[in-house]
Amino acid sequence: MHILRVSLASVAFLSLQAVAQIGEYDPIYNDYDYCQGITSDSKTYKPIPGATLKKVQLFMRHGDRVPSMVFPGDDANYNLCGDVAENHYSGDDLLSRTPTVQSKIMDPQDSPYHNRMWKGNCDIGQLTNRGKQQTYNVGKNIRSIYVDMLKFLPKFLNTDLIYVRNTYSVRTRESAEHMLNGLYPSTFRVPGSVIELNAFPEAVENIVLSRNLCPALPSIFKPFVSTPTFLNFFKSNYALMAKTNNILGIANNPQYNNSLNGDFIISRLCNNMPLPCSRTNSTDCITPAEATKAIAGSWVMSYGPMRWGPQTEKVKRVSGGMFVGTIPKNIHATLKGDPSSRPFEFYSVHDQSIDQIMAIIAAPNSPWPGYSATLALETFELADKSYVVRAIYEGKTVKAHPDLQCSLEACPLDIFAAFLESYVPSDAQAECNV
Ligand SMILES: *[C@@H]1O[C@H](CO)[C@@H](O)[C@H](O)[C@H]1NC(C)=O
Ligand SMILES: *[C@@H]1O[C@H](CO)[C@@H](O)[C@H](O)[C@H]1NC(C)=O
Repeated sequence: MHILRVSLASVAFLSLQAVAQIGEYDPIYNDYDYCQGITSDSKTYKPIPGATLKKVQLFMRHGDRVPSMVFPGDDANYNLCGDVAENHYSGDDLLSRTPTVQSKIMDPQDSPYHNRMWKGNCDIGQLTNRGKQQTYNVGKNIRSIYVDMLKFLPKFLNTDLIYVRNTYSVRTRESAEHMLNGLYPSTFRVPGSVIELNAFPEAVENIVLSRNLCPALPSIFKPFVSTPTFLNFFKSNYALMAKTNNILGIANNPQYNNSLNGDFIISRLCNNMPLPCSRTNSTDCITPAEATKAIAGSWVMSYGPMRWGPQTEKVKRVSGGMFVGTIPKNIHATLKGDPSSRPFEFYSVHDQSIDQIMAIIAAPNSPWPGYSATLALETFELADKSYVVRAIYEGKTVKAHPDLQCSLEACPLDIFAAFLESYVPSDAQAECNV
């Protein structure tokens, strides 16, 4: 039995190696769209018959944002932010529909650095109005399942049942606020009730890839670039890279020219803005198909090392492993009735945060988390009193990593917990020493 399991696992692994080209996703994700993550709602969600839901741990990427840096010569007009409905209330009227402040990004015409900013009302990496709406919609979908359909959460907000954690960045905090407004609109709140938004200090944040926590990250990731997987990827994307480099005017700029620079094109693609064209030939433009491919390939140095190459297991320990121990710990606390534990946990995080959990639990060819993408981990009690965990990503049950010997439709809690715990570094500081 043991031998059979092992050999099946390695057959599965070999065939994954063969078919799972970087950027090629499992066909269950054929409705994947980087610009819009998919979250189940009451129409698509399937309860497990006869099972009782005990705990939900929901991970959500922030919504649509503008690029995370100003690219040299970006001539787009990012007029995508600054909805009048502000989300930071300075007064104590927390649920007021009429904002008390309104922020405005200034256009300092007389600044000698004026050419280093872009046009429009968004600052670097800011959540756009589209992103606000997306995360609000996640809250609405989640409400339709866990409040309306399953009655797992009550109709009216009870802050004792919800734990929220966001990262230190403004866009995840804002995304959390919008999601919570969709989950519990003001008509379902007692005025004055306050939801705590918990955040780790940036210096020790462990749900993002962090060189603060792990100075050795670059050298741990590095062997990946010598793998056939990466070299093939580089070769088969080289023409696209050369084309985008030329169009963006960075063909000889070593700071940028070794990437597909998808982050520079994303906001344009997702917000139906014109894609970049060459400054010397206005008919030489990046097509939507090229933009999609460039975006898919741009995070290769993030997701690749966790899935392909000899360094994979170590990479997973020092990335997702820094956080994933929290998952079983909190499940067990809820099942034991620990009064400080909450049945609904909501993490407002980044693409990397979700992907590094997926790298551990899922078969390698899952798509990179798009805007407002969600991963839901649900713990159920079955009729025989045993506990199982289900994982739903992009609205589909996650295909388990071959090393995780269960189906994520209903993975026995003991197996799931032990597997996650096996990735927690026993001495992270030693593994991360440079
Ligand atoms: C990037 O620019 C450097 C310096 O000009 C050059 O040597 C290198 O070949 C370029 N890389 C690509 C991928 O174009
Ligand atoms: C301009 O770009 C188009 C599309 O790539 C190409 O067909 C054409 O030859 C280019 N013109 C010049 C003068 O390079």
